[in-house]
Amino acid sequence: MENFVYEYPTKVLFGKGAAKEHLGKALGAYGPHVMLAYGGGSIRRNGIYDEIMEILRAADKTVTEFCGIMSNPTYTKVQEGAMLVREKKIDLILAVGGGSVIDCCKVVAAQAVLEEDIWDMELVRHRLPMVPPIPMGAVVTASGTGAEMNGGAVITHEEKKIKTGIFAAAPHFAVLDPEYTMSVPFSQVISGAFDTLSHAMETYFGRADRDNVSDDIAEAVMRSTIRNMRFLLQNPGDYTARSNLMWDSAMAENGILKCGRVTDFQAHQIEHQLGAYTDCSHGQGLAVLHPHLYRVMCEKAPEKFARFAANVWGISGEGRTEQELAAAGVEALAEFIVKCGLPVRLRDLRMKEEPEKLLTDSMLREISDSCNLIQTGQAQLTHEELFEILVKSL
Ligand code: NZQ
Ligand code: ZN
Repeated sequence: MENFVYEYPTKVLFGKGAAKEHLGKALGAYGPHVMLAYGGGSIRRNGIYDEIMEILRAADKTVTEFCGIMSNPTYTKVQEGAMLVREKKIDLILAVGGGSVIDCCKVVAAQAVLEEDIWDMELVRHRLPMVPPIPMGAVVTASGTGAEMNGGAVITHEEKKIKTGIFAAAPHFAVLDPEYTMSVPFSQVISGAFDTLSHAMETYFGRADRDNVSDDIAEAVMRSTIRNMRFLLQNPGDYTARSNLMWDSAMAENGILKCGRVTDFQAHQIEHQLGAYTDCSHGQGLAVLHPHLYRVMCEKAPEKFARFAANVWGISGEGRTEQELAAAGVEALAEFIVKCGLPVRLRDLRMKEEPEKLLTDSMLREISDSCNLIQTGQAQLTHEELFEILVKSL
């Protein structure tokens, strides 16, 4: 195994009624000024807003609202939130939403205490913030990203056309109530769950390593995610499936699967740039890209893909060469994506403009050229190969 340090600062409050049971007590550890942050208004329609406000009132908090956080949160929105935190002297940021709300708040928490611009600091001058961020907590209303249990956040800089990770702030606590996800549109539930599967795969397909317990855990998380997605396709209201998926989501991104190994995340690099140019849904973008990317990767490095086919998809190696077994695993993934009703072509993704207008040859070239090339995956690809993958995904 590679050397590692493992430490996680997030306290998880999991289960039905978790906010009512634990949130009031958790709030007691912070000062009176709370910023309640949320997205486009789903929490006002499904009753979560009222429930959280009641808990905040009972805890004697003065609440400042920061709303309208969009999917694929922007750098501009982060700056708006940071100004509000400073102006209102906020003691705790409470992010109530999916990955987008949580990510935006993480960077708001870090930016609010910094003199300098966090984007320039990290991505231009390559320095990490040393000042402790404003404390934040998360109430997860849509699972999949695992954002609630890590310190990284993904932000889009609209002018620079870059969507990328920023080291920001890890939530002190995370409320995970599977009931809160019941009102999420089903396509988003499946897209979020696919994101979880992608996180586990992208970790697993890091460079070849010797026997590593993290890979065994990743296989279990992948199998559980696939099985519970299948249960949900049969019965969207299945509480057990939603609870498993919620915890799979956290497990895939809380660092456990990454202990002692390097990771790949090439699909995420492509999807993030695709998102920067088109504003498409993260999980759906990944679903389109993964099979095309893995067809190329498994040609170059079949061994781990053969293990994936056998241990995740239960495909027998009998009568197959290693290369054939590896390819069968990738095709099982592709068929599963179709069965889930996820999009399989870029042009089927919902975008900020007509896909035909956006997905031109020159834009696909810009997207592929602006992607980071991962050096630690099973197989290293070139910008030209990424471009071909995008063209095949069209
Ligand atoms: O904005 P509202 O009105 O709340 O609606 C949201 C949004 O439209 C809706 N929603 C959330 N909870 C709901 C609900 N609708 C009804 N009932 C509820 N209970 O769901 C829609 C999607 O929400 P969003 O937060 O955008 O989705 P997701 O959780 O998939 O987050 C995606 C973002 O996370 C980033 C992605 O790149 C993307 O920007 N990621 C963050 C990661 C991290 N920090 O670790 C890792 C991931 O790889 C990912 O990159
Ligand atoms: Zn993701």
